[in-house]
Amino acid sequence: MTIEASFDVPFVAKLALREKQIQQNYRPIIAVHKWFARRPGTLFRALALAEFGSDPVADLYYRANGFPGRKIADPFMGGGSPLIEANRLGCDVFGFDINPMAVWIVREEIEHLNVQTYEEEARRMLTALRAEVGGLYVTDCPLYGDADVPVKYFLWVKVIDCRSCGKAVDLFPGYLIAEDSRHPKNVLVCPECGDLNEVTDREKPGSCRGCKATLKLQGPASRNRCACPHCGRANRYPSSEDGSPRHRMFAIEYHNPPRKAHHNGRFFKKPDAKDRARVAVATERWARVKAQFVPDDEIPAGDETDRLHRWGYSHYRQMFNDRQLLGLETSCRLVREVGDERLRRALATNLSDLLRYQNMLCRYDTWALKSLDIFSVHGFPVGLVECESNLLGISDARGVSIGSGGWANIIDKYAKAKRYCEAPFEVRGNGTGSIQIPIKGEWIGESLADGRRRNVSLRCADAATEKLAAASLDAVFTDPPYFGNVQYAELMDFCYVWLRRLAGGGAEGFDRPSTRAAGELTGNVTRGRGLEHFTEGLSRVFSRMAEALRPGAPLVFTYHHNRAEAYFAAGVAILDAGLVCSASLPCPAEMGGSIHIHGTSSSIVDTVFVCRSRGRMPRRWLFTSAEGLEAILLSDLAQLAQAGCKAGGGDTRCIMLGHLTRMAVWNLREGWDRGVKISKKLDRFALAVRQIADAEALLGRMPAGGARPRSSRILLTAPDSPTRSRGAATF
Ligand SMILES: C[S@@+](CC[C@H](N)C(=O)[O-])C[C@H]1O[C@@H](n2cnc3c(N)ncnc32)[C@H](O)[C@@H]1O
Repeated sequence: MTIEASFDVPFVAKLALREKQIQQNYRPIIAVHKWFARRPGTLFRALALAEFGSDPVADLYYRANGFPGRKIADPFMGGGSPLIEANRLGCDVFGFDINPMAVWIVREEIEHLNVQTYEEEARRMLTALRAEVGGLYVTDCPLYGDADVPVKYFLWVKVIDCRSCGKAVDLFPGYLIAEDSRHPKNVLVCPECGDLNEVTDREKPGSCRGCKATLKLQGPASRNRCACPHCGRANRYPSSEDGSPRHRMFAIEYHNPPRKAHHNGRFFKKPDAKDRARVAVATERWARVKAQFVPDDEIPAGDETDRLHRWGYSHYRQMFNDRQLLGLETSCRLVREVGDERLRRALATNLSDLLRYQNMLCRYDTWALKSLDIFSVHGFPVGLVECESNLLGISDARGVSIGSGGWANIIDKYAKAKRYCEAPFEVRGNGTGSIQIPIKGEWIGESLADGRRRNVSLRCADAATEKLAAASLDAVFTDPPYFGNVQYAELMDFCYVWLRRLAGGGAEGFDRPSTRAAGELTGNVTRGRGLEHFTEGLSRVFSRMAEALRPGAPLVFTYHHNRAEAYFAAGVAILDAGLVCSASLPCPAEMGGSIHIHGTSSSIVDTVFVCRSRGRMPRRWLFTSAEGLEAILLSDLAQLAQAGCKAGGGDTRCIMLGHLTRMAVWNLREGWDRGVKISKKLDRFALAVRQIADAEALLGRMPAGGARPRSSRILLTAPDSPTRSRGAATF
């Protein structure tokens, strides 16, 4: 079978859509360590089944499958989604990534781990850590009078000194810290005395129960200005000359295990003198520590990191408070003492992943009442209120984690991820809920005790310069960078500078001071990498992969971008590689509610491009007019709707650009001269797209959700030969 013949859009879209709602339930392996913009594992499983299986995808999907001896490469492996799926299906895999963190993470995912010994070691480490710093993560419960109950989160507000009167000014954007969704009432901070007030109607919050001051939702800090409550001066923030921001702890959410069963809602309090004293103790203790593991690296300039500079952060260590630094340094020392190399590496990976919750850029979700990690959007947004999670984490009597962002949470998720490697499963909807279906016989890894093996080759390298044996690959499945969507290296450096010190010796690529590399294929203004750099790099990578593919074997990649030019880059790369695009299939790949997507016109749907040097595809896909494109688009939207995916305007645009790219490749394939300058090739491609249809005009007439456009007379200059729509086209 081939993907073109057997890929099942509604079946896969339904799986992918579900997976992206709670990816950890479908692919627990992603919890090994954060990576950005992971595509659905279900999609890549389905692609491999469609290409190598001999039955319809829906028949194969919930059964154990194996394609031993097949060789699959991913030149941009990132968090490893495509590669892990291929490995799980018994294929030999070749993965590349220019970022050493990606290689570290995929190796951690694939390499065998004895989960039981890991859990024992992790517990030992956690006990030792608790003995050292546990006293800094407790509080007294003012409601029931219990002492030393565990803190879930400490909330901190940024503070500046007024430029006029010099007095401290809290930069509160608002005073609401908890909405009445997961807690019976709204919780508001009093602007005058700082008391926490539980309020039924947040539109009419009334007055403070302590000082009787008027409660309000809106805080004084807005649009980089904050009026001083003492003298009225409007202060501007941030100011990089003042150094990294100062914070004041103003609220605590804690847990009270013995009272929880009879208590309605969460537990909040205003910090008391003992809470403040614990902060002071942490600072004192930290001042006496000679750090071995806390990095002293500067934060280099960058498209994302410049925001940190504007806020006065010049070094990574400034992004943590003293209690966090003390706890993290202590954690590193304990990890370093672990004798077994495999377990030490696992715990070092955990520490690196834990960092995203243990820093002063985490925000508190006032609706979900939990910490939002530093990477909840693909950048470094600096909030005015920050959330410090309990470093140790909290588990209930049954071992279930309470709250997020601590060691206990990370260990729990990691153990689940590694168990999944040994016993993978799929999740199937069963009407109201879903059930796990064990896929007995499949496994993730390199070898089993009974001697079964598959080859795994992971390299930290620029895929544009790597060479694989000619005609050796059965497929390339990949998720390339989508031009400038995510600054992988700038973001990952935040973890890398720690992991490198703790465990980096000898790991491939860890000799570099930063994960940034000139060859990284992300558009980056700071580094002067524009569309041409991206196109050139993608073209070199695709060309290398095309040489390594058996004739007719597919290069499959997912893609989406809001800008048409980013598709032109992909089209040029396909043509330069001497490939034809034989399918462009829609598949949901992001979660609509994702914080980085929500409220934007961004697409959640990717185009899956299937490219080959030779092969067949349904002739009906070869449209020559805007009407033809419209028919294909409507069919795609209908198939997505069948899967419960309501495509928005951004999605329709991306799907359409996918088809236009495919057809422009088809129209340009003969006589394409790869030797021409990149800028010329991009222009030529743009023209070829325009000659097929006016994308913007069609989009303007295309209501979201798959209804028919109001008018279909929007063809500009369609090729004049009518295309027969039946049968297969061979190339
Ligand atoms: C979209 S991510 C891959 C995501 C991955 N498929 C997943 O599911 O997690 C793209 C990756 O390409 C890598 N990359 C960028 N330029 C590269 C190059 N020249 N060679 C190899 N990898 C590169 C980035 O480091 C990033 O990890």
